[in-house]
Amino acid sequence: MMDALSVIQVLSPEIAERIAAGEVVERPASVVKELLENSLDAGATAVSVEISDGGLSLIRVFDDGSGMSRADAALAPERFSTSKVRALSDLDAIATLGFRGEALASVAAVARLDILTRAPEELEGTRVQASGGQIEAGPVASPVGTSVTVRDLFYNTPARRKFLKSPLREAQLARQTVIRYSLAYPQVAFRLVVNGRETYVAPPASPLERIGVALGRDVAVDMLAVAWEAADLRVWGHVSAPTIGRRNRQDQFFFINGRPVRSGLLAVMLERPYAGRLPPERRPLGVLHIQLDPHLVDVNVHPRKEEVRLSQERSIYGAVIKAVSAALHPYPQISQEFPAMAWPFDEAQQPGEALRESQANYAVGGLEPLGQLQHAYIVARSREGLVVVDQHAAHEQILFERLSGSGAVHSVTPPLPVALTAREAELLGPFLGLLANLGFEIEPFGGHTFLLRSLPAPLATQDPRMLLDMLLEELPGCRRLDPDAARERLAMKSACTGAIKAGDILSMAEMQALLRDLEAAWSPATCPHGRPAFVLLTVEELERRFMRR
Ligand SMILES: Nc1ncnc2c1ncn2[C@@H]1O[C@H](COP(=O)(O)OP(=O)(O)OP(=O)(O)O)[C@@H](O)[C@H]1O
Ligand SMILES: [Mg+2]
Repeated sequence: MMDALSVIQVLSPEIAERIAAGEVVERPASVVKELLENSLDAGATAVSVEISDGGLSLIRVFDDGSGMSRADAALAPERFSTSKVRALSDLDAIATLGFRGEALASVAAVARLDILTRAPEELEGTRVQASGGQIEAGPVASPVGTSVTVRDLFYNTPARRKFLKSPLREAQLARQTVIRYSLAYPQVAFRLVVNGRETYVAPPASPLERIGVALGRDVAVDMLAVAWEAADLRVWGHVSAPTIGRRNRQDQFFFINGRPVRSGLLAVMLERPYAGRLPPERRPLGVLHIQLDPHLVDVNVHPRKEEVRLSQERSIYGAVIKAVSAALHPYPQISQEFPAMAWPFDEAQQPGEALRESQANYAVGGLEPLGQLQHAYIVARSREGLVVVDQHAAHEQILFERLSGSGAVHSVTPPLPVALTAREAELLGPFLGLLANLGFEIEPFGGHTFLLRSLPAPLATQDPRMLLDMLLEELPGCRRLDPDAARERLAMKSACTGAIKAGDILSMAEMQALLRDLEAAWSPATCPHGRPAFVLLTVEELERRFMRR
């Protein structure tokens, strides 16, 4: 018999390093991101990025920041070496872009790293070369600042190389990274050179001028300033007037305390006030900064620091809606079909009101079910009058918000083995990571068989096999989307599949539960597609119709 204990082995440090590095360094653009963050944390006023061959043969980031002393420079490529976090309590309120002391070590694990640096008080610079666990440091002439060169990326991880796109596409992704940071830090000069050709030059500028350089002058003239402030929360930046729009969310940028973040929900909140002003398939452009107490942001939740966890999410999302609504105020809604903000949002559109309004007004409150109409609508009483809720649209929105949120999962026990066709298996493969992120943990189980281990918690009561069929149907349409858009599309489709349908008979208790959930939704007025989730007939409206007024 085989010794069962010998199956598990502790990985050698070299393999462990390489696996950890894979989490941080996914592609050349992730290296560019980490190096830019280091330059910005070092207080650079000018940063120059150079890449060749899509970043595989060369990535170089050069800054005029604080530089490093010889001792610091030799430590920088070590794992968990950082100047940014000293005590455990520092982790509760991170004010720098970096904090893990992991980026340079990860780069050194999968590439050849060469650092030239000099701190202003040092007479001589330092050169540090690191690769494959070896670090060498020595004196060299260097200007004040730091230049980090990364050569032969993924030379020792051929599998990772295979997953990369064409050099042209990788260069584009790196360029988008540079543009994203340049929008966040308009006061810093940025420059990008691709294959020896200067492709982006952004001198220090005002936020709006920087938008002009990064996204186009024609875009900048159509941007509206956003400035919104509450006691502990500030939302500022620019959003597009409804006179322009895009087919995708490429030109939507969100920064929380100066850190670029990806968030489907923030995008939804930005887009909500455009309903009725922009055709439903067009997306607004936006560069939005959200500034809040760093204690309320947990930045340590994503291996590439692309997502953050927010406490008081609801007030942040509410603030984005209010801030954008206030900026859009001069532009009236055109279409009634997609109401911009059905009650209770409409007060927010009075000038000045938006600022004074309390957060509570954003919730639908005090709904009490009276009965069901045609097994499709819930008729309810509220403080303001009679509310008719579209049961499918409302539930769809509730599920969509939950699916876009925490990623909580419900285990399928025992895991469900599913045999797919070769084509289905091939389709599913590249999406396993994204699906796991949504809460669908699916694992290859040999051949074309997969194990479904979990469902997103909001879909816990659904039939797993039916959900899987829905995903397989939806995936072909996701292949050309960027990961954010694909995730959103799958969340929308899952919400639609899992939601109560028109025709479902609901008990009073079920109606009550649905209304409670709707009251707790961030954006209860519409479903994810922009259709209204409920209609309000106010008491005043009734009085007018009965000619009591
Ligand atoms: N361009 C730079 N200028 C000055 N110091 C730098 C620069 N790049 C790196 N350093 C120093 O090297 C240290 C290690 O950098 P590294 O990116 O590995 O970790 P970090 O930025 O502290 O955290 P994270 O892993 O989250 O990025 C930094 O804390 C900083 O002190
Ligand atoms: Mg860093």
